[in-house]
Amino acid sequence: MLAIANWKMKLDVLQSVALAQAMVKSARHLPQGTEVVLCPTFLSLAHVAAAVKGSTLRLGAQDCFWETQGAFTGEVSPADLRQLDCQYVILGHSERREHMQETDGQVHRKLEAALRTGLTPVLCIGENYQERSGSQKDYVLIRQLQAALQGVTLGPDDRLVVAYEPVWAISTGGTGIEATPDEVQYASEVIRHIIIDLYGAAVLQRSVQIVYGGSVNPSNVASFTQLPTLHGVLVGSASLDAATFLAVISAALNPMPSRTTDRSNTVI
Ligand code: 13P
Repeated sequence: MLAIANWKMKLDVLQSVALAQAMVKSARHLPQGTEVVLCPTFLSLAHVAAAVKGSTLRLGAQDCFWETQGAFTGEVSPADLRQLDCQYVILGHSERREHMQETDGQVHRKLEAALRTGLTPVLCIGENYQERSGSQKDYVLIRQLQAALQGVTLGPDDRLVVAYEPVWAISTGGTGIEATPDEVQYASEVIRHIIIDLYGAAVLQRSVQIVYGGSVNPSNVASFTQLPTLHGVLVGSASLDAATFLAVISAALNPMPSRTTDRSNTVI
């Protein structure tokens, strides 16, 4: 189970380090197979890297540039992220697509650079409220995924995480509507179909994980992580406090018995 914390720009450096230290203490007790990834701001990364060193916690960045070196004032190289022990990088988050006008083409270039550098991209895709109301959801998922992955090969050592994050379900700036497990299941099946189209079922099974993000909290997380096609969650607000984030992880790991927990990536 993958639990990725996106702290966005909500914590300063000291708060980020304190939260990372609190998470390190509790992460000792997490069962094997649980991968917890902390994604602080760029400025906090080196400090959080020091705080999580030697623990099972993983580090991720919230973005990176599509070149590794050169005259690109203000940008952050994926190679530098690797130097800081980052293993993951969130790419194409809807907040970047909206506020920084990030395009599908730019997300594609960033994803290629991330893979080339040995980072695991957490590629965010998802429709906004208007697109959902206009029955454009499938179209948006197909467009964003195909554009990001066009011409990209996934070798045996590459890993890709696709995060389905419907913009309307994100707690801040969202609509207050929560996605239902059925909607998330449907979207993850669309994603699986596209990946199988692009790479085949074997690569899907070997290299690709699908997570859900959007108002995930301790009460609803199990309804998502029990879905047969999901591998985990991408958490915003509920990851900003150690006790709450641990409650999310613990509820995902110990769901109330109801639905199946088969995550075998069965071919559809
Ligand atoms: P929330 O969990 O606050 O809805 O944020 C989701 C998100 O955008 C994670 O990337």
